[in-house]
Amino acid sequence: MSRVPVGVLVSGSGTNLQALLDAGAAPGFPARIAVVISNRPAVAALDRAAAAGVPAVLIDHRPYRGDRAAFDAALVAALRARSVEWVACAGFMRVLTPVLLDAFPGRVLNIHPALLPAFPGLHAQRQALEAGVAIAGCTVHLVDDGVDTGPILAQAAVPVHAQDDEAALSARILAAEHRLYPEVLRWAAEGRIEVEGGRVRVRGAAIRGSAW
Ligand code: GRF
Repeated sequence: MSRVPVGVLVSGSGTNLQALLDAGAAPGFPARIAVVISNRPAVAALDRAAAAGVPAVLIDHRPYRGDRAAFDAALVAALRARSVEWVACAGFMRVLTPVLLDAFPGRVLNIHPALLPAFPGLHAQRQALEAGVAIAGCTVHLVDDGVDTGPILAQAAVPVHAQDDEAALSARILAAEHRLYPEVLRWAAEGRIEVEGGRVRVRGAAIRGSAW
């Protein structure tokens, strides 16, 4: 079975990357992680890639001095060098430009720790607590040129507990992220995702969400 090569973009601890690496190593999974690219040096995500025997590349954004297009061109070159077909952002803390998005049209995934369109941007879990919501969660979506605005692929809901602080809620959401992201990557690799008018349909999946 030929498996779809995926590039994962990271900036930090890489627990979502780990979930994707683990899924990709399982027999019968339709995707494999072909390269991991970090914009920050010495992050745990790079160690996770190395431990899994996956090429790990550092492309530090700082020398690009705000030239996002040139940074993205370097990402595209590294992804193409590994014949990547889908790109998965996993805790990647840079906003992508059309240089990358046009190179992989409709094929860039992101995971966000909130039930979008609520609480886009930074500190989504803190935003949720401050808003007093009773249910929080995570979203996997296609990336467009906005911040956390692209078509929603799947969501998982988790309860907010009365005693939750930001760390406790983040950990509960993160556990849901680790279940959700590999499932969506499977849909992507199997070619089952269709987008029409900004809304997603996944062939063979009647439900694109879970609660708890
Ligand atoms: C996750 O909560 C993800 O949703 C957000 O950043 C965090 C990354 O965590 N975009 P990790 O690097 O995957 O551990």
